[in-house]
Amino acid sequence: MKRNIIITGGAGFIGSHVVRLFVNKYPEYNIINLDKLTYAGNLANLKDIEDKPNYKFVKMDICDFEGVLKLMQDNHVDGIIHLAAESHVDRSIKDPFTFAQTNVMGTLSMLQAAKLYWESLPEKWEGKRFYHISTDEVYGALELTHPEGVKPPFSTKASSDQHLAYGEKFFTEDLKYQPHSPYSAAKASSDHFVRAFHDTYGMPTIVTNCSNNYGPYQFPEKLIPLFINNIRHRKPLPVYGKGENVRDWLYVVDHARAIDTIFHQGKVAETYNIGGFNEWKNIDIIHVLINTVDRLLGRKEGEDMDLITYVTDRAGHDMRYAIDSTKLQRELGWEPSLQFEEGIELTVKWYLDNQEWMDNVTSGDYMKYYEDMYANR
Ligand code: NAD
Ligand code: TYD
Repeated sequence: MKRNIIITGGAGFIGSHVVRLFVNKYPEYNIINLDKLTYAGNLANLKDIEDKPNYKFVKMDICDFEGVLKLMQDNHVDGIIHLAAESHVDRSIKDPFTFAQTNVMGTLSMLQAAKLYWESLPEKWEGKRFYHISTDEVYGALELTHPEGVKPPFSTKASSDQHLAYGEKFFTEDLKYQPHSPYSAAKASSDHFVRAFHDTYGMPTIVTNCSNNYGPYQFPEKLIPLFINNIRHRKPLPVYGKGENVRDWLYVVDHARAIDTIFHQGKVAETYNIGGFNEWKNIDIIHVLINTVDRLLGRKEGEDMDLITYVTDRAGHDMRYAIDSTKLQRELGWEPSLQFEEGIELTVKWYLDNQEWMDNVTSGDYMKYYEDMYANR
């Protein structure tokens, strides 16, 4: 079946993996990548598919309601996969307005344009889908009730048999939203708008909430690429607080695979949590990164441990995220393809092999932001 799909934020980290997967897997679809190209958007992420006949890039702000509406009309768009957002918690603490503008007003602009266009068609909502990509951070923070770790109640391919959970509770789809950061508050608000468009107008919507992603093409303000690059260049590794906070990590390609499954098979108006039961304390992951970078660069494993530098904690730093993705695994049969050890090896190799990509994204404005941020800590 032919489809015309807008993927917003397709030049960003996760979006570029989703665009690549859809363009390669569905040659019969037209894929339109709508992206404003903020500091986080980079067309170099899509070099390998930019000449494919079923792919088109459009530089546009999701807040440009008229532009978005015309793009939908001109291309007979019947599917939207909405990833465009401001995505970094530390930036949201400094500049919450931009987060409300892009994440809330931008999502509303996408929803309203889709509503006007789809309602104007004879078949209306039939065959249409508005799929909103959100985060587990909207659920707030879980407690670290088992700091030494316990055997988790679930197991999947993403985590090895010995892998531990750091509490009894997990984020499930029915939990109340309790966002703490301006980033997660703005994402939570956008999720509410998406559900409101289903409940009020009948728009066929789906929302998914995924755990932390890692992998190639992630902007190096986030923990994993930032630290890989700093270890390589023997720069300090700024660990917030005691490094005890726990995140649940999923390889980005597995998130893209889940998005593909849910876009095609997910039930309208449902929410699905996406994750691989793969919790890590920050400090443990940092040890893995140091050992892996050292080994791959031919250094003595662990010789860069002294780069670890404890700095002032992030304001309102959420203690633990842990996703329960049982619903997605049971109802739609998705499961991660990689264990964390495999994924992190691929990821470190990718960043070490792609120093030019790293140099390009860390030049200019980025360096100023980074230096200002750490000057204030
Ligand atoms: P990213 O910051 O790497 O990319 C965001 C993309 O959106 C960029 O290409 C940027 O240019 C574009 N964009 C920003 N503002 C825009 C605007 N006003 N108009 C058009 N395009 C705009 O983000 P990411 O990490 O790839 O995250 C993508 C989505 O997935 C976000 O909605 C985020 O909340 C969600 N998410 C991310 C993670 C994660 O670990 N990174 C986890 C769960 C959910
Ligand atoms: P990050 O990659 O920013 O993702 P998120 O805040 O969305 O979870 O951070 C992951 C974890 O790493 C989080 O607990 C904050 C911590 N962190 C540091 O300790 N130092 C850093 O320089 C960064 C960027 C993050």
